[in-house]
Amino acid sequence: MANLTIRKLDDALKAELRQRAAGNGRSMEDEVRVILRDAVHQRHGFATSLPQAGGAAAEPGPGDVSPENQTAFVSDRPSTARITLIVGGGIAAYKAMDLIRRLKERGAEVRVVLTKAAQHFVTPLTASALSHQRCYTDLFDPQSEFDAGHIRLARDCDLIVVAPATADLMAKIANGHADDLATAILLATNRQVLLAPAMNPLMWANAATRRNVDQLKRDGIVLVGPNAGEMAERNEAGTGRMAEPVEIAAAAQALLAPPSPRPLLGRRVLITAGPTHEPIDPVRYIANRSSGKQGYAIAAAAAAAGAEVVLISGPVDLRAPDGVTLTRVESARDMLDAVEAALPADIAIFAAAVADWRVASEGGQKIKKGEGGPPPLQLTENPDILATVAKLGDDRPPLVIGFAAETENLLANARSKLARKGCDWIVANDVSAAGGVMGGDRNTVHLLTKSADTVDVESWPLMTKDDVATALVARIARELEVHQS
Ligand SMILES: Cc1cc2nc3c(=O)[nH]c(=O)nc-3n(C[C@H](O)[C@H](O)[C@H](O)COP(=O)(O)O)c2cc1C
Repeated sequence: MANLTIRKLDDALKAELRQRAAGNGRSMEDEVRVILRDAVHQRHGFATSLPQAGGAAAEPGPGDVSPENQTAFVSDRPSTARITLIVGGGIAAYKAMDLIRRLKERGAEVRVVLTKAAQHFVTPLTASALSHQRCYTDLFDPQSEFDAGHIRLARDCDLIVVAPATADLMAKIANGHADDLATAILLATNRQVLLAPAMNPLMWANAATRRNVDQLKRDGIVLVGPNAGEMAERNEAGTGRMAEPVEIAAAAQALLAPPSPRPLLGRRVLITAGPTHEPIDPVRYIANRSSGKQGYAIAAAAAAAGAEVVLISGPVDLRAPDGVTLTRVESARDMLDAVEAALPADIAIFAAAVADWRVASEGGQKIKKGEGGPPPLQLTENPDILATVAKLGDDRPPLVIGFAAETENLLANARSKLARKGCDWIVANDVSAAGGVMGGDRNTVHLLTKSADTVDVESWPLMTKDDVATALVARIARELEVHQS
């Protein structure tokens, strides 16, 4: 078979492929494999596929169609979404039996795994009767492990839902345990995982659980609930009740919805990129090593996602990405003027490496080398573009994102920048010379997001700057979706 080189695809197709791969959490190569497989099976087209497992789609039975005419997982796809439902050992396990019905109502095929503890609360017979499938309970089951059944359960699905997610299961997932069927599946999967925690309020509030929740979120796992209310224990109330089955089914449905190929359509995005040049005299200037590649890549990804993009760039040697309005500037003051002129915007991303200082009194003529030795260069502070825009009143874009390029104490400095500047997110990257980020094509970033009085940190792996841009745009699109719904 001929080799397919993604690099050789045209830019628009590559951008769309990158967007789609990021949305599905796959590499571009894996995404191409899925597309080809689907094409061979003539299942569905480019924009809507989810990973398919072998086997026919289950026909909904007569009892599986909701009287409320719920929207199906599968309304726009001829194949059925497949969900592996892991039930942990908590009182709420009985509600997970109702969840099977709610997921099936929406057209999903559900395979249930019960932990050993869960079987004290519900039986495999109940789970298989409701799911119309065999229920799985044992990692060392010769019937399903002859072909590594736990790997099938981990991968041969579109989504894994854990409900109830006990404190114990969450601790094990956060720490990568795999000593039973549930945890082995969760460690072996490359699918999106949705947890519905349920536990006593003191267990939920315990510092160990808080640490595990932070870790799970950093690992890209999504949580629904827990809710506040009465607990099963007498006279106990607080946060720890499992989300209702309909809420969990809705969260699963949202995660399974095919990503829109143009999620930023109708949005205006303002991006700054590159260095600034601060003049000393008409021929000399102070500059920095920023190449502008990351900002330009974000502009290209935002345009590919359908946004109207205004890119304000310091002096760089890069071509304007297709579909982007480019304004070229020199100094920090020019950049601020151009930014203010480009407002309003829905999203502002400040990726430029703006000089903190400029020369206080720029020479009108070339400064001559004289006998008096080097001229003293008095510096003065430049305007802070990020803080200025983040602290605007009515004109403040609803989402303001800054960049923190640091050479030491990366996360601590990024956190303090987030607080100081008044922006919503910070993309922090280590720009010490050893990493080769300045001018290079790859980047390792941490995304700090502020919500109420907490700051979440997502640490992304080393990626190309194009992939960082695509992932950031996908993350922005998700954020907008959450705020809209
Ligand atoms: C009656 C009873 C109810 C329990 N309810 C919960 C619960 O709601 N949430 C929880 O995290 N643990 C609960 N536990 C403790 C778990 O069952 C225990 O931590 C078990 O090891 C969890 O195993 P699993 O995570 O593999 O399912 C309960 C235990 C008992 C005996």
